[in-house]
Amino acid sequence: MSLALDLHDLLKNYLRRHGVAELTVDAVDAWRLDAAFTLPGMGRFRARNVRAGDVPAFHAFGAGLGARAKDLFSPYPWHEPATLDGAFRAAIDAAVGRVDAAYFLERDGAPIGHCFLWKAGGNPHARAHGVEVPELGVAVADAWQGRGFGGLMVRLLTAVARSLHADAVELTTALENESGWQTYRRAGYQYVGLIRNPQFVDVTAVAAGAVTAAVWRDERQMILLLNDAHRDAVLHYLAVKREEALTM
Ligand SMILES: CC(C)(COP(=O)(O)OP(=O)(O)OC[C@H]1O[C@@H](n2cnc3c(N)ncnc32)[C@H](O)[C@@H]1OP(=O)(O)O)[C@@H](O)C(=O)NCCC(=O)NCCS
Repeated sequence: MSLALDLHDLLKNYLRRHGVAELTVDAVDAWRLDAAFTLPGMGRFRARNVRAGDVPAFHAFGAGLGARAKDLFSPYPWHEPATLDGAFRAAIDAAVGRVDAAYFLERDGAPIGHCFLWKAGGNPHARAHGVEVPELGVAVADAWQGRGFGGLMVRLLTAVARSLHADAVELTTALENESGWQTYRRAGYQYVGLIRNPQFVDVTAVAAGAVTAAVWRDERQMILLLNDAHRDAVLHYLAVKREEALTM
């Protein structure tokens, strides 16, 4: 199934709960995705790729995350104003350069959700183990949590990964993150083991030795397998990652 059809189906399912049928999906591929719908009494929503000029959008999104959300969702150095803009610019470059598939969910033009698949354009670390496994991240602004948007974005990223022929999607989540755990479980993700993870940095950059992290945390590693023929190789790669994390 094409990405556009896949997205159309999963968004239609979501909208059915709200009694909404009208929806536009324009998704040539993972790098040119634009889907919009209106929820009665809530506003006009749009999922779109991160694009050039999005530094203010990143700041606006960060302003909607409280301290706990920033602690649980830490791919950017939220507490270091001197380096935050640079991290946002790097994320934009990686999205525009088709390294990471990254998206905002906007409500009436303001970002209320952000999600990404790190190294969706090709993960050299995974490829060295003969598999393609991007890593998922997602967050919803505090005021908009608990309305299905997180689950929707996880499913959107899963469809994106499938369209890119990934073997699996990986994610990690803090032990105390009950809403994250439930969101991923309900979207079909399975627990595979504990992993020690760097915080407030791009994990793949740490693995490549490009940056170092000051803060580490034990997290649950979870996956959704997309290519059953590569199950063993995927599980082996993830086990190697857990081992390597102990020595970073
Ligand atoms: C985790 C997060 C992305 C989930 O998004 P959300 O919009 O709040 O979650 P949803 O409303 O889509 O809920 C998804 C599912 O999980 C369930 N769920 C969510 N929070 C739950 C909780 N605290 N307890 C039990 N179930 C919960 C919902 O019932 C829903 O199940 P369903 O699909 O069967 O209806 C969001 O809460 C968030 O951004 N948290 C802060 C940052 C963060 O933790 N990011 C993830 C880091 S790993």
